Amino acid sequence: MTSILILNGPNLNLLGTRQPEVYGSTTLADIESACRGKAEDMGVALDFQQSNHEGVLIDAIHTAKGRHDGIILNAGALTHTSIAIMDAINSVELPVIELHLSNIHARESFRHKSWIAPVALGQICGFGAHGYSLAIDALAAHFGKT
Ligand code: DQA
Repeated sequence: MTSILILNGPNLNLLGTRQPEVYGSTTLADIESACRGKAEDMGVALDFQQSNHEGVLIDAIHTAKGRHDGIILNAGALTHTSIAIMDAINSVELPVIELHLSNIHARESFRHKSWIAPVALGQICGFGAHGYSLAIDALAAHFGKT
């Protein structure tokens, strides 16, 4: 069975109350539950994690090798700063979809830089919580599951 890790970075635990005008009012628990329902319907195994700590995210990427077939990664602000996360993705050689709720290219210029984009299969941004569903579809299509 295809297995996907959805990994969420700093401050995404606050979704629902954090700047709802930017990120919407859906909580991370709501997103997890929608993703689990979708994955079950598609016959895909799903692991869903969140951490506010860069090293924990890197450990999760390392551990994904051998356990999961691909990763959907919303690294939050670490997207714009973390060469270490980029290196971790390169090291495990798993397909990664970069995900953001907001359209990072339409926001402050410091959010336009992504260290993940060059090592990702692709990027989905600007579709709010629905982006998670789009990312699952994209990864499943990559694996020939649709
Ligand atoms: C984000 C965009 C980032 O720039 C920001 O730092 C986040 C959330 C998004 O999902 O839109 O924490 O990754």
